Amino acid sequence: MKKQKNNGYPKVAIDGPAGAGKSTVTREVSRRLDLKYLDTGAMYRAITLKFIYEDIDISDLKSIEAVLNRTVIKLSDKQGVFLDGKEVTNDIRIAEVNKLVSPVSAISIVRRWLVDMQREIAEESRGIVMEGRDIASRVMPDADFKFYLDASLAERARRRRQEQLEKGNVLAEDEVLAEIKNRDVIDSGRADSPLIRVPDAIVIDTTDMSFDEVVDKIVNIVQSKAS
Ligand code: DC
Repeated sequence: MKKQKNNGYPKVAIDGPAGAGKSTVTREVSRRLDLKYLDTGAMYRAITLKFIYEDIDISDLKSIEAVLNRTVIKLSDKQGVFLDGKEVTNDIRIAEVNKLVSPVSAISIVRRWLVDMQREIAEESRGIVMEGRDIASRVMPDADFKFYLDASLAERARRRRQEQLEKGNVLAEDEVLAEIKNRDVIDSGRADSPLIRVPDAIVIDTTDMSFDEVVDKIVNIVQSKAS
C-alpha cells in the first residue's frame, strides 16, 4: 500500500455509536489491510474495571488521578487486554463495566490519559485502524481515512443481544434497548469529546448491510485511495 502522510503509513479512524458493529468490522479491516488494530473502547473498559475493583467513587477526581498514576493498560496484537499485567480481556465485558463505562468515559482526566496513550500507539505503529467515539475528532484528526459506522437503534440492540446470546447470556429486548439508548445519550451528550460525525467522515449505515459488505466497502475505499 502506498505510504500516506503522517508517519508515512495509513491511519484509519472508525467511529460510531454502541452496537454499530465497529469492533468486528475494524478487526477484519485491519487484518485485510495488514494494519495494527486498536479498540479504544477496551481501554475505557479496562480503567472502569479498575475503578470497580478498587471501589472508587467516580465523582472523586483526586482518587481517580491517584489510580491513573499507578495503572498500566496494555493491548496485545492478538486483542488481549491487560490491566497492570493481568489479562482482563473477558472481564471488561461484564455487566458492571457495561453500566459504568459511559460515565467513566465522560471524565476529562480519564480521557486525556487515554487519548495521550492512543496517540502514542498511533505514532509508533506502521499504520493503524483505530475504533472508538472520538478518533476522527480528537485522537487522530489527521487520519487519512475517517469512517462513521451507524445503524438503527433496533438493529444495534438486536446485534448486542445476539452477541450476548453467543456467549450464553439471554438478555431481555427492552433491557438492551434501554442500555444502548442510555449509552447514546451519555456518549453523544458529554461535554468532553462527545461522539460526533466529523464533516469529512464517510458515513456508512450498516443497518441493512452484511458484515462482509461493510468490510469490503471500507477496504476498497482505503485501497483505492492509497494505491
Ligand atoms: O466501544 P465500546 O462499547 O466498548 O465502548 C465502551 C465505552 O467507552 C462507550 O460507552 C463509550 C466509551 N468510549 C469513548 O468514550 N471514547 C472512545 N474512543 C471509545 C469508547
